[in-house]
Amino acid sequence: MKVGLGGNSKDMRAIWLINGEVRMIDQRRLPTDLSIVAFSDVRDVAAAIRNMTIRGAPSIGAAAAYGMCLAALKGANLKEAAETLKSARPTANDLFYATDHMLQQIKDKKDPVEAAESYVQMIVDHCTRIGEYGAELINDGDRVMTHCNAGALATVDVGTALAPIRKARDQGKKIFVFVSETRPRFQGMQLTAWELLQEGIPHSIIADGASGHFMKSGVNIVIVGADRITANGDFANKIGTYEKAVLAKELNIPFYVAAPVSTFDLDTESGDKIVIEERSPEEITKIGPMNIAPVGSSAVNPAFDVTPARYVTGFITERGILKPMEIGRMR
Ligand code: MRU
Repeated sequence: MKVGLGGNSKDMRAIWLINGEVRMIDQRRLPTDLSIVAFSDVRDVAAAIRNMTIRGAPSIGAAAAYGMCLAALKGANLKEAAETLKSARPTANDLFYATDHMLQQIKDKKDPVEAAESYVQMIVDHCTRIGEYGAELINDGDRVMTHCNAGALATVDVGTALAPIRKARDQGKKIFVFVSETRPRFQGMQLTAWELLQEGIPHSIIADGASGHFMKSGVNIVIVGADRITANGDFANKIGTYEKAVLAKELNIPFYVAAPVSTFDLDTESGDKIVIEERSPEEITKIGPMNIAPVGSSAVNPAFDVTPARYVTGFITERGILKPMEIGRMR
């Protein structure tokens, strides 16, 4: 991803491994500060996942892969390390997929650094292919809507939902992106808009509640990411995704979900079995230290919702564009 504007821009990933340390962009401080944090202990990597220093399903998976690598290099108890990582957040399939993948690789006596690096590169390669397939769905002049951040920050590099947008722009298509702000943690406004700005892709931030208004008056395609996709094609993604999918069907707007193999949970039959993370009510009632709700009112804060498969036009994957009934091919 391009970081920094104009002549000062350079390429950077959301997370990387160097000299026995995991380094990552602290996504809680964007867009105001580009701050890099470093960890050398798997417990600190798990804490960074939990407190959302790093977030987004494939990036969480990459953090888990590097975390397992640190544990192996230090000779730590790998079962404990895997449990610590897996308990950091419950919904994104990638966290469990990457941790189990690394456990197997280490059991098979693979070099932990090489195993983690090849896992992470696989994710980036998958995202690149998602971009190539997805760009075919975007026409010159299209107005695209996305939700949350499914960009390079969420996937190490390139993005899932943002990959087709980047690729379409590279192909010379003139596109415009509606970015819903994504209450309560503002991943759309603070992260997606930041990424699009770095790349000079025209966009506007809209309030979450404005999606219907703009979809009615001219959105050509909606593309979102996913945290977990079950065998029947239901999927969990950032809270607020479900209502966009329902609106898209009502308004005949194609609704696509972009995700790599690591996000597919084909052992789980349907979306009602997905564990939805509940986060602190204070993410809703406060902005920073400041209370913005009446003291004494309660708030509930599910981080994700589940959209039924019938609202999905297709899944954009590294293996092509699949209808919900075709996702068995991801096995
Ligand atoms: O709570 P977050 O910020 O980790 O949620 C992220 C999302 O919901 C993304 O849309 C999803 O992980 C897809 S990222 C490629």
